[in-house]
Amino acid sequence: MTLEFVKVEFEGPVAVVTIDRPKALNALNQQTLSELEAAIVQVQGHVDARAVIITGAGEKAFVAGADIGEMAGYTPSQALAFSQKGHRVFALLEALPITTIAAVNGFALGGGCELALACDLIYASEKAKLGLPEVSLAVIPGFGGTQRLTRLLGRARAKELIFTGKTIDAAKALELGLVLEVLAPDALMAHCKEVAHQIAGRGPVAIAQAKRVIEAGADLPLKAANELEQQAFAVLFGTEDQKEGMKAFLEKRKAAFKNA
Ligand code: CAA
Repeated sequence: MTLEFVKVEFEGPVAVVTIDRPKALNALNQQTLSELEAAIVQVQGHVDARAVIITGAGEKAFVAGADIGEMAGYTPSQALAFSQKGHRVFALLEALPITTIAAVNGFALGGGCELALACDLIYASEKAKLGLPEVSLAVIPGFGGTQRLTRLLGRARAKELIFTGKTIDAAKALELGLVLEVLAPDALMAHCKEVAHQIAGRGPVAIAQAKRVIEAGADLPLKAANELEQQAFAVLFGTEDQKEGMKAFLEKRKAAFKNA
């Protein structure tokens, strides 16, 4: 599939996926959403990738939401199919066994905020503006915002943001815990790449297991979740990387992991 609105670049173990439709502030129309899915599949198939950074092209926006022009005439069944497609793409992103990082460089509204919420780590530029403004259009978030924001911030904070539809700046997003750190606009990508490369140097099977256990455990009672951790801990002792990681420590050298 030739990609028109999404760019995929690989820099060693780090993939950078850029939503590139600046004239519509990178809004997700059907084509862009399909291309994002293809980009995620491409990253998934790249065996050496250890982290992926998602960002928006241009100075102004990460992603300003789903495309309102396209959605305006949808029937309920077309809206259902669109929401299901968004959920499918974001679930694919969330299920990647590597680290996913949102570099929020500007507006991250509606579907754009939901895209960031589907990533493991969210970093923002000082110029970022985030929010779920869907109720201003008399709809609700349709790509997971009601659920992922609530799990991240708790019900009251999610309700305040979703019911008011207000846009918050990066400092407020940091205070709420919606983003992990706020950086100067020209330092954002460098910071995300630094984090991505740092993670890329760790044991990849361990990262994948940690991610799986954190995600799966979040929906389970603590006892069952703790059992997941014990199983995953044990499984890792059957890997080559564990042998290498501990041997390298004892030999006072840098480990060379094989993702095996
Ligand atoms: N869909 C389609 N086009 C969009 C868009 C969107 N979500 N957001 C911006 N654009 C387009 C504008 O229509 C405009 O196009 P033209 O130049 O052809 O008129 C262009 O991008 C630039 O936007 P503005 O002129 O509006 O720029 P601004 O700086 O004045 O305002 C903004 C920026 C505050 C982000 C404003 O564009 C805005 O409010 N956008 C809509 C945000 C929104 O409501 N997002 C949620 C969408 S619903 C959703 O996402 C549902 C879901 O959960 C799946």
